[in-house]
Amino acid sequence: MALLEIKGLRASSGGREILKGIDFTLEEGRTAVIFGPNGSGKSTFLGSIVGLPKYDITKGNILFKGKDITGMSTYERTQLGIGLAFQYPPSIKGVRLRTLLDTMNPDKEAIDHTSEILDMSPYLDRDVNVGFSGGERKKSEILQLMVQMPDLLLLDEPESGVDIENISLIADALKIILEKDKPIKKRRRSAIIITHTGFILDYIRADKAYVMMDGRILGCGSPSEIFEEIRARGYKECQKCLEEAKKENHAA
Ligand SMILES: Nc1ncnc2c1ncn2[C@@H]1O[C@H](COP(=O)(O)OP(=O)(O)O)[C@@H](O)[C@H]1O
Ligand SMILES: [Mg+2]
Repeated sequence: MALLEIKGLRASSGGREILKGIDFTLEEGRTAVIFGPNGSGKSTFLGSIVGLPKYDITKGNILFKGKDITGMSTYERTQLGIGLAFQYPPSIKGVRLRTLLDTMNPDKEAIDHTSEILDMSPYLDRDVNVGFSGGERKKSEILQLMVQMPDLLLLDEPESGVDIENISLIADALKIILEKDKPIKKRRRSAIIITHTGFILDYIRADKAYVMMDGRILGCGSPSEIFEEIRARGYKECQKCLEEAKKENHAA
């Protein structure tokens, strides 16, 4: 059984359809990466999986661990083991980072240990993300995931706005959560990593890559091959696939 199975997903926000029929499957212990130009619906896809209220699922189903979670609240989905690291993490004035982490997992030693891995100990007594730099916000997101330890990690551009040293700290933390030191069959947690630049792939291995464009997923392949193709030709070739996909949709 797949950990995550998505069938014919359509979603809109602000009255506008953004996801236009997505089929997607992720097995336990696997990492998928999704490329795509700005505005193609990548953040909407992750937000729909975790059930953020700003997205309306208008069609299709999301199954997680075999359960239909399509109508569940974000809280219920996180309780089942889904965790999201936001592309633009919000600040929460008046709530200390330590307090937030403690609500997620009251194990103080785990909090202190993971904070050290990410070099975030000095930030624990500050308000969540208030006055944090771009890189610090991203590390605070990963720290929260490390303390939650969800079975499915949704990572929305974890490397954007982060300098090289901190990207490698983030990647180290992700490798621990995703048990990359174990053989693939023994890994239990899975991830979907959205990346615009592909830089994160220099640090962490993905098993499969997808390209999203105009609310659709256009095929999949090996992460290095797809990334090389995009690096060499941009999304021009994908535009052709998109036209094909639209024609097929039309024919169906
Ligand atoms: N609430 C909303 N109202 C109208 N349009 C929206 C809303 N949220 C997102 N969109 C639009 O949907 C498209 C996809 O957004 P998004 O999922 O954030 O793309 P990506 O993460 O791939 O850059 C964008 O064109 C964006 O402006
Ligand atoms: Mg986005």
